Amino acid sequence: MSPIPSSENLSVTLRETRSFSPSEDFVSKATIKATGYGQLIQAATADPEAYWANAAEELTWFKPWDKILNWNPPQSEWFIGGKINASFNCLDRHLTTRARKAALVWEGEPGEVITWTYSELHFQVELLTTALRKLGLKPGDRVAIYMPMILEATVAMLACARGGFTHTVIFGGFNAEALKDRINDAQARVVLTGDGGYRKGSWIDLRTQTDKAVAACPTVEHVISIQRKLAGQLRGATVQDSPEPTPGRVAHALLHDWHALLHTVTPSDRRAMGGPEPLDSEHPLFILYTSGTTGKPKGIVHSTGGYLTGVLRTTQQVFDLKDEDLYWCTADIGWITGHSYLVYGPLAAGASLFIYEGAPNHPTPDRIWAMIERHRISVLYTAPTAIRSFMRLGIELPRSRDMSSLRLLGTVGEPINPEAWMWYRENVGSGRCPIVDTYWQTETGAIVISPIPGALATKPGSATRPLPGYDVDVVDKQGNPVPAGSGGYLVIRKPWPSMARTIHGDPERFKKAYFSDFENGVYFTGDGARKDNDGYIWCLGRVDDVLNVSGHRLGTMEIESALVAHPKVAEAAVVGRPDEIKGQAIVAFITLKAVAANEVSGNPGALAALKKELQQHVTHEIGALARPDDLRFADALPKTRSGKILRRLLRELAAGGQISGDVTTLEDLTVLATLQKDEEE
Ligand code: WTA
Repeated sequence: MSPIPSSENLSVTLRETRSFSPSEDFVSKATIKATGYGQLIQAATADPEAYWANAAEELTWFKPWDKILNWNPPQSEWFIGGKINASFNCLDRHLTTRARKAALVWEGEPGEVITWTYSELHFQVELLTTALRKLGLKPGDRVAIYMPMILEATVAMLACARGGFTHTVIFGGFNAEALKDRINDAQARVVLTGDGGYRKGSWIDLRTQTDKAVAACPTVEHVISIQRKLAGQLRGATVQDSPEPTPGRVAHALLHDWHALLHTVTPSDRRAMGGPEPLDSEHPLFILYTSGTTGKPKGIVHSTGGYLTGVLRTTQQVFDLKDEDLYWCTADIGWITGHSYLVYGPLAAGASLFIYEGAPNHPTPDRIWAMIERHRISVLYTAPTAIRSFMRLGIELPRSRDMSSLRLLGTVGEPINPEAWMWYRENVGSGRCPIVDTYWQTETGAIVISPIPGALATKPGSATRPLPGYDVDVVDKQGNPVPAGSGGYLVIRKPWPSMARTIHGDPERFKKAYFSDFENGVYFTGDGARKDNDGYIWCLGRVDDVLNVSGHRLGTMEIESALVAHPKVAEAAVVGRPDEIKGQAIVAFITLKAVAANEVSGNPGALAALKKELQQHVTHEIGALARPDDLRFADALPKTRSGKILRRLLRELAAGGQISGDVTTLEDLTVLATLQKDEEE
């Protein structure tokens, strides 16, 4: 645990003087009003188990639970004895009233729009579940999903949920190496994938990555791939090389064409084998890999009943979704936001969702606003990074569009600076839409801190207060609450239904990562925070070695491991530096092996080429999202006498020092280090 970052070091400037009460327009239609808020919090605080049981009752259970909670820290079990299915709750139960309602409205980057109703989505999910069962999949088997942002990606997740096959979605921006590690860790039997997707007018090939990965994944028996190039779905994108479909095999695995496989499912197959599996409440719905402080990504395991309870309740409270809303969450399905608030939460609530595949600024910089205008989107949920990059493009773009359909705006993933918050409010929400800044994590499964719009005044830069049912606090190292105004560690004292159940295959690591810093089963988020006089929480960012780059979580060790895997690199230390748009940028300090060091020393051309080579290497090993923005070469890394890298010094250097590609010789950081060593030890 590092010291709490001081607010001056962060891009978040605390401005507690400003506060916005929910606008009248919103209050008149809000489900939860300010008058009910206090009672809601009071009741949930007095009896959190009863509060969450009441939330669980909004789901449809095949068999009711016998007991609400078993809590043996770090192990929690919720709604014990209950039988449930997530896909049934997202689909079947809406068919009586919403069969012909739009479930998904999809737009592709070239402009094509496809709308699927609840009944169409249900039909597609039944087909895929049947096909997977026909291939021999059983509840508890793992399925990897590595797909572009197409309708079938949602089908893939729900079809797995229907059969009880635990899915693990891998973000399409990860490359073969990262994909292989995740598939192997999960021991997936099936990979659901596609030939590629659109991004900024280009065709992003996924199949080559899948093929490379699967060749090194012995547990994979089947690869099911959706061929868009052939299906005539490609319009306007520059097609780069991507493999033609070769029905047959990917290494040792059988390769199936998605549509051809679904065509083999007869109506009677579907009726006999397409139904939802009644699963234990604790059945693992999915594994999602996220970065931690050590090299290997953690496979966070989520349950079915507790997870759905958390995401449905928070979807309703935070997004206040109504049948007439069209809700757009811009996250990719490869991240937790894509799981909880692009699939499970809003579909369990019976909402209409908008999904866009492509870059929000392509082919014109106002694409995002044009889509809000065209589809009359009413609730928008996006990341501060996106807001900051649109801010740079100027207010004329959103202002030139009719965005009167918007009624609520959300942000997630990283602290939002008050300037971006204000810009979002004034220029996107025309000063009348409440903003919900939602704080949560892959591990929490659902939103933990957020305003309830219509009920709570907001302050730009603060996620405001914990939602009902969460016992959140800001504490010192000993676990005592800090006084208002001071910094501390952000913790959750009591269990909540959508909390992660374990790290796949590594329960010890689960305990160590989240439950070892404080006693009595207190969960530590890894974030520093500050509570103000009104009890509002201001998240100050991670206090561990996790970076937040454009709202994506990345472990410094993961990037370091990729760098030292390069034959020329001896040692690497990765730190973050504040970045105006991305929140944090990645800076790598590197020492080279002797031969390589001789080659580049005093040779700017060779140094620049090596820098590029190492950036490409990280892209290849992990994906473009982990590519260092800056590389600095040093003779040696600054260390304490006991050999620990002085990260604080590197962070300061990265933030303040001149960083450029034209360093012609290796830096001597050890000189600087001698000045700091005694202080650190
Ligand atoms: C950060 C994303 C400030 C935080 C849902 C957390 C935030 C990490 C916010 C989790 C917010 C997320 N304000 N910081 N509203 N939301 N974070 O697992 O550091 O990808 O620990 O989950 O993002 O990232 P993850």
